[in-house]
Amino acid sequence: MKPPVHVAVTGAAGQIAYSLIFRIAAGEMLGKDQPLILHLLDIPEAIDKLAGTVMEVQDCAFPLVREVLPTAEPEAAFAGCRYALLVGARPRGPGMERKDLLEANARIFSAQGKALAAAADPGVKVLVVGNPANTNALIARENAKAKLDPRQFTAMLRLDHNRAIGQLAAKCGAQVSDVEKFVVWGNHSSTQYPDLSHATVKGRPAAGLVEREWYEKTFIPTVQQRGAAIIKARGASSAASAAAAAIDHLHDWALGSDGRWVSMGVASDGGYGIKPGVVFGCPCVCKGGDYQIVRDLPLDAFSRQRLSATDTELREERAAIESLLG
Ligand code: NAD
Ligand code: LMR
Repeated sequence: MKPPVHVAVTGAAGQIAYSLIFRIAAGEMLGKDQPLILHLLDIPEAIDKLAGTVMEVQDCAFPLVREVLPTAEPEAAFAGCRYALLVGARPRGPGMERKDLLEANARIFSAQGKALAAAADPGVKVLVVGNPANTNALIARENAKAKLDPRQFTAMLRLDHNRAIGQLAAKCGAQVSDVEKFVVWGNHSSTQYPDLSHATVKGRPAAGLVEREWYEKTFIPTVQQRGAAIIKARGASSAASAAAAAIDHLHDWALGSDGRWVSMGVASDGGYGIKPGVVFGCPCVCKGGDYQIVRDLPLDAFSRQRLSATDTELREERAAIESLLG
């Protein structure tokens, strides 16, 4: 057996965590041969509720779980962690956009960025789930930059990616595993751009399999608005699917994506005309515990306009929290 790794989950008493923690503990994120020490962070008011989750983890008798450490102290939560899943934040309600949460949630991520720099393993891989996820990842990384590389901070676009390949596969009468080279660009928000132009289904170009009108008028808005549709239907935001996407994101980052493209929110570096300074959804391939942005894809005028719109929104979000960037 490998030595245990420390994994931190924040918002551990919340609804996403109630699915996420159990799937991590079962070995679905880092493999069935990877023992774990789970660090579970929530706020003091939620510690009693968190105790219930801890009891349930114990009661599952997961062979991989060596220890479960509940805490309300960020530095204790991140001590020695190689993986940090930053879920804890307020969710939006009906009629809100995710960026309406900026004010409520931004401070959480500046404090947690500092705590990660102070306490986490120097190679920690960070996934930000709490909304608005891209800008919260930016805040955390800027507050950790004295010790940690910006590449270590990523935001979750994988839920949008999974939603999109589900819609596309259903439209084409195919399986999700038949869809390749798909990407969601930009912000995890209603300006995101789910891009079919490079995608294939069973090796055939997706753009030739669906009508342009369906792509622009049905597919793109359905994926962009899926979170709001779930909030309307459930009266609460997505949880099990968000947890599944978080598992997929970190699984692939840690263990590889087998050559497949996955959508990850990563530090913009000037590629595709997106200047440094935001966390942007991009096509990535993961290998050897690292990820690389897929480079030099041709972008038509429609794609360029969509990338520019979501970039503009991210820069506005950045301007609104500039004072928290460390
Ligand atoms: P929830 O309200 O059920 O749980 C949030 C938990 O975070 C609560 O237990 C709360 O006490 C805790 N928390 C609040 N402040 C904290 C802090 N400073 N440190 C640690 N914990 C803290 O919410 P949820 O449904 O689990 O959603 C969590 C976040 O994830 C929301 O912001 C939601 O919008 C977001 N989300 C993102 C995606 C995505 O694709 N990126 C998908 C779904 C949900
Ligand atoms: C989602 O996409 O389901 C989450 O970001 C929750 C939300 O506010 O839509």
